[in-house]
Amino acid sequence: MSLDIANLYADSEADRFAVHTRHLNEQVVRVLKTLGYDVGFCRGVGQYLFDRKGEKYLDLLSGYGVFAIGRNHPALRDALESVLDADLPGLVQFDVSPLAGLLAQRLLGHMPYLDKVFFANSGTEAVEAAIKFARAATRRPGIIHCEHSFHGLTYGALSLNGDAVFRSGFEPLLPDCTAVPFNDLAALERAHATRNAAAFIVEPIQGKGVNLPDDGYLQEAAALCRRHGTLFIADEIQTGLGRTGRFLAVDHWGVEPDMVLISKTLSGGHVPVAAVLARKGILEKVFDRMDRAVVHGSTFAMNDLAMAAGIATLEILESERVIENAARQGARLIAAFEAMIPRYEMVKAVHGKGLMIGIEFGRPHSLKLKAAWHLLEAMSTGLFCQLITIPLLKDHKIVVQVAGHASHTVKLLPSLVISDADCDWIENSFNEVIADGHRFPGAVWSLGKTLADQARKARAGARSDHDRSQSSS
Ligand SMILES: Cc1ncc(COP(=O)(O)O)c(C=O)c1O
Repeated sequence: MSLDIANLYADSEADRFAVHTRHLNEQVVRVLKTLGYDVGFCRGVGQYLFDRKGEKYLDLLSGYGVFAIGRNHPALRDALESVLDADLPGLVQFDVSPLAGLLAQRLLGHMPYLDKVFFANSGTEAVEAAIKFARAATRRPGIIHCEHSFHGLTYGALSLNGDAVFRSGFEPLLPDCTAVPFNDLAALERAHATRNAAAFIVEPIQGKGVNLPDDGYLQEAAALCRRHGTLFIADEIQTGLGRTGRFLAVDHWGVEPDMVLISKTLSGGHVPVAAVLARKGILEKVFDRMDRAVVHGSTFAMNDLAMAAGIATLEILESERVIENAARQGARLIAAFEAMIPRYEMVKAVHGKGLMIGIEFGRPHSLKLKAAWHLLEAMSTGLFCQLITIPLLKDHKIVVQVAGHASHTVKLLPSLVISDADCDWIENSFNEVIADGHRFPGAVWSLGKTLADQARKARAGARSDHDRSQSSS
């Protein structure tokens, strides 16, 4: 039997939205249609996507940051094919994997202060493991995390999530989790009052909003944790492996965490994988006896394809000087966006390091724009950002996201291999769309009216559904 997946893909392309509406998540389809994403992406090469008409797009989302080396990188593809061609035994379980050993060594080479690696299948699984390891190593129950944080959506990780939208409807969550404001050392100190904290987990740069730490915050937080016997965990699932222009984001500030969590980029985008890197003493307390040798683990972790994807990704990052490119192109883009602040009254700030960049919009001063802004925001907080992202897609073929629920920040998370020409594409497109957004009336604000009308209708629909369910119950 030979199964032609490419043909299956092509044959089912036209029906994808209908099938998802029927059998998967129909709300996702509604959102995509509203945002104009019914273009049918059919092909991905490097930092580009191509739709069913063959139009080329610059992808500034990169699958939520997994395609740091771009889609379908030839060296990654070769590595994965070579695993299949080699008839490796894979997941014997009653053996240990040579590829996992190699990948662990290579990762630890970048973090000489850590000694052990635990592999998992996704970011959230790495977070779950870190919570368990911290509790086992310290014999304390508490986990401190930051407001506005995002660590994943399984129960432990969700309990550390700083956004009520994600938590609501799923409570009760894990007990003994305490949220503190990001960048607030006094609050972190106060959270230690009960002396029950196993760990403080923090994204060195918060993904939701692209919030940067103040200088000294991460070092001081790490020192404070050490004084209290609390483990300092850096969630580098998004920021790690070059995203911010250094191997880890904590490297910008010379911080040496007790545990580092990585995922996304390590996969090469194609085979899910995650890793917890830790000090020796921590994992020795988890796996402390022969009868507890498999007290934590996961069937598919350390599968050969995932390990090969990790090894190949590290090779590509190094041989193609990808991290240096991220630092250079990131600095260029951040400078270009900063130059827009004095020119455009709604561009309030630019946050970022390397190729993790947020452009923050805010309330205008001029009367006409102010009235239009308030009308839109009254409908749905953060709706203004869609007036930037929708024309970027439609008119400039740029795929880009808003940095979270009710956020006023448009976030760029491109492949780390973007070129000078891509940066020109980004600068010119954003410039044009932001300039249009500062003209009232104009095409951008007509779109705003359409979105506000849709939001109003959706609210009215939800209200009448609610009334119907109340009267029938
Ligand atoms: C910082 C951070 N931690 C954890 C996660 C969860 O990773 P996953 O979606 O692979 O479970 C994410 C995902 O976006 C993330 O950005």
